Amino acid sequence: MLNQPTCYLSPKATARLKTHREYGVYAIAPIQKEEMLAMWGGEVVTQETFETLPERLRRLSIQIEENLFLVALNEGPSDYVNHSCEPNGGLSGQIELVALRDIAAGEEITFDYAMSDGSDYDEFKCECGAPACRGTVRGTDWRDPALWEKYAGHFSPYLQRRIEKIKRGETV
Ligand SMILES: C[S@@+](CC[C@H](N)C(=O)[O-])C[C@H]1O[C@@H](n2cnc3c(N)ncnc32)[C@H](O)[C@@H]1O
Ligand SMILES: [Zn+2]
Repeated sequence: MLNQPTCYLSPKATARLKTHREYGVYAIAPIQKEEMLAMWGGEVVTQETFETLPERLRRLSIQIEENLFLVALNEGPSDYVNHSCEPNGGLSGQIELVALRDIAAGEEITFDYAMSDGSDYDEFKCECGAPACRGTVRGTDWRDPALWEKYAGHFSPYLQRRIEKIKRGETV
């Protein structure tokens, strides 16, 4: 095994402490729209297994399918990307983060967890500070049709399938 984090972060970004205990990821060079920001990796586990894991591991994980989660067993800087209700990053597939717009050096890199979260494992009071902050981040945020428009093409594929079903009038 390679002794390295199970994730990859663009060399144009770094993780550092944001508060006394919370990390964030920050651009350290200008990043262009659509550039790759991060690629997450780890161990794929079922929801049943996921629910037995310690809280610290769960909050650094990402849901990648209806019943599957990617758990960062060897955590690294890209596991510390925070949520924002006005993000500059978005998903491309299940595990890649790309820039939604040009990002200046010094800006925090964020994405909206509504793009990935389809269950309630990581709900919290949001402190993103955006003027239109939702206040609370929930596993049901992906249901908001306004976000379907705002993040078109940037939802995790399993959530996009759910969205398409709702649009067809099916119950999800
Ligand atoms: C993947 S971690 C992000 C890295 C985290 N800041 C750390 O240092 O471990 C996700 C957790 O970070 C916190 N977090 C992320 N975005 C946040 C936000 N906008 N407001 C408040 N807490 C946030 C929540 O506790 C969430 O469960
Ligand atoms: Zn917010």
